[in-house]
Amino acid sequence: MYSGHMIDFNDYTVEDWTGLIKLASDIRLNQRDYIHRCEGRIMATLFYEPSTRTQMSFQAAMLRLGGQIIGFDNPVNSSVSKGETLHDTIKIVSGYSDVIVMRHPNEGAAKAASIYSQCPIVNAGDGGHLHPTQTLTDIFTLSDFKHRLTDLNIGFCGDLKNGRTVHSLIKAMSRFHGNKFFLISTPELTVPEYIKDVLELSACTFCEVNSIDECIDELDVLYMTRIQRERFASAEEYEKQSGVFILNTEKLKKAKDDLSILHPLPRVDEIEIAVDGDSRALYFKQAEYGMYARMALILKILNSELTIEKPVIPVLLDHFCGNPRCITHSEKYLPHNFKTDVAGKTACLYCDEKL
Ligand code: NCD
Repeated sequence: MYSGHMIDFNDYTVEDWTGLIKLASDIRLNQRDYIHRCEGRIMATLFYEPSTRTQMSFQAAMLRLGGQIIGFDNPVNSSVSKGETLHDTIKIVSGYSDVIVMRHPNEGAAKAASIYSQCPIVNAGDGGHLHPTQTLTDIFTLSDFKHRLTDLNIGFCGDLKNGRTVHSLIKAMSRFHGNKFFLISTPELTVPEYIKDVLELSACTFCEVNSIDECIDELDVLYMTRIQRERFASAEEYEKQSGVFILNTEKLKKAKDDLSILHPLPRVDEIEIAVDGDSRALYFKQAEYGMYARMALILKILNSELTIEKPVIPVLLDHFCGNPRCITHSEKYLPHNFKTDVAGKTACLYCDEKL
């Protein structure tokens, strides 16, 4: 078993994050210096869920470092469609590759994979849970454009319940002093309880608001997200939530001149196309920065320069996780591992759901 996985961005220290940002920044400016750094190394991308940016930026990152890639972007074309377990797929693929980047619809899937892998696992999104490499992309973009990660008023808008990029970024930004979070969503789509716990225990402040207009003049950063259609139980439930928050040029008239507008993309209708021409719209730059961020991450991981500081000791309990989207419900052989979370509560080791 290997210990330098990237499952949750918060497993690492702020010093590790700073090192990654510094390296990503150098790679962006001096790409040619890095073209042979991963020669002879293989990265597997296992995408059980659709992706454009994350998958392609990881693949482009490895190719630009001189490495090779294998994998699938649709489990239908792999033995998963024949009923192969995650356990077996990971055992096999980790023998073929030096690092595995995986995206899966179930929460906690990357953590589960890490139990059985002989090589590092990178979580490229596990259901509505976490998305650490998007967070690396986001903080790299912010540090480049804002020149600081502290004392920022940050608005998160859209599907804060199911948006894994939101969860990971809130966890990360709550570790920097002076940040204030404005959570802009409908009452049905507010952040999960474990994210509220993180916020309450941090030195940062937060408030929940119902519209962009209520807070846009105060914001330094506005992080827009789409409503995650694929996480809703029915089309009717999705329709009730869609189209509620739309950023347009009219709303931006009240915003600060140096506002940074981020979006992990893909966008549906939550940012009007007319906004793209505004110099404050950074989302396409952010997507480009994602490739440099992932180049830095691959290098650090393959050089064993990232090690989880305080690994969590799992406790085996005779309980089932209550989250129906948790990986333990689809991969039934997984040990029922729990942990004591930041709030001192017993929570599922894989998906963070409280017992
Ligand atoms: C996000 C994701 O997959 O969580 N996209 C991405 O990785 N850039 C956001 C989304 O799908 O809405």
